[in-house]
Amino acid sequence: MPVSDQAFVTLATNDTYCQGALVLGQSLRAQMATRALVVLVTPHVSRLLRALLSRVFDEVVEVSLADSADPARLALLRRPELGPTLTKLHCWALTRYRKAVFLDADTLVLSNIDELFDRSEFSAAPDPGWPDCFNSGVFVFRPSLRTHGLLLRHAMDHGSFDGADQGLLNSFFSDWATADIHKHLPFTYNLSCNAAYTYTPAFRWFGSRAKVVHFLGPRKPWTYKYNPQTGSVLDEGPGAAPRHELSFLNLWWDIYHRSVLPLYGSALGGPRIVALSVSVSEIAIQEKVRALSPEEQRRRWEEGHIDYMGTDAFARIQEKLDRFLH
Ligand code: UDP
Ligand code: GLC
Ligand code: MN
Repeated sequence: MPVSDQAFVTLATNDTYCQGALVLGQSLRAQMATRALVVLVTPHVSRLLRALLSRVFDEVVEVSLADSADPARLALLRRPELGPTLTKLHCWALTRYRKAVFLDADTLVLSNIDELFDRSEFSAAPDPGWPDCFNSGVFVFRPSLRTHGLLLRHAMDHGSFDGADQGLLNSFFSDWATADIHKHLPFTYNLSCNAAYTYTPAFRWFGSRAKVVHFLGPRKPWTYKYNPQTGSVLDEGPGAAPRHELSFLNLWWDIYHRSVLPLYGSALGGPRIVALSVSVSEIAIQEKVRALSPEEQRRRWEEGHIDYMGTDAFARIQEKLDRFLH
């Protein structure tokens, strides 16, 4: 029996992070998660991606964007793009669920993790960069409008020491490090697999027990290119920056290729469209081409550079399909 008053929750404020949310959702389904799957989106997320998310998640909930607008502290974190992560705080407003587990959209679930619902608010795993802080990519919480209000007030009154959600949540749940060891999740529930963070011997020793991997850091799985023939992301050569553990990257892409790309096909009216996106030996997820004029976008479209993730992708593909069919 599915448990209807508990949920796994993630967040995507744009179509790119939606790609991660789709893989995360499919990984939870593959591991037979028995709780509702919920994704928070903001008004920016396109119609196409909302349609795809609703194929995987039980609920796609629109919330307003909350941005720290704190470039100085985000610069300390060296992640200027993370201001919108304050939107995460809106997960406390999901009060139809009694308990929930939040997972970043850049996480991947490797085994069933329903046992996390035995934990109480606020449970999380240590951050690999400063282990007296928790990492806010995976946590157990109890939705409550009171807590939601207090968190927003805390954000207004004190801001966040890292300009994003993790700093804020750590100063709000400030006794996490010392109060109750049961609220420390094992690192295997939030294993950062960025080579730069890894204590390699421990990774060798314990890594096979990983339950949730987290592609923490500026490089995400969707920024790599993947070759479906070899089942591997492309080697970027000796001068390239250290990358995430290869086997986890390949697993992410395997799920994307097998169980996310086909959703595009069915949402857009049949397998012929899937062929458009996977006919080549490399798959890459293109960033939005925001700066292009409508004429320029049209030219790129006619030349075959298709912006599947664009706000108007659905309309364009439909238009092309109509022309093709007539
Ligand atoms: N996120 C988002 N839009 C953004 C940035 C972040 O939706 O522009 C969400 C997404 O769920 C993401 C989480 O906030 O996984 C935290 O950001 P990220 O995972 O990039 O931070 P990291 O774990 O690398 O520090
Ligand atoms: C962390 C967390 C992420 C959070 C970010 C900014 O690295 O993994 O979830 O958004 O810090 O606070
Ligand atoms: Mn993350």
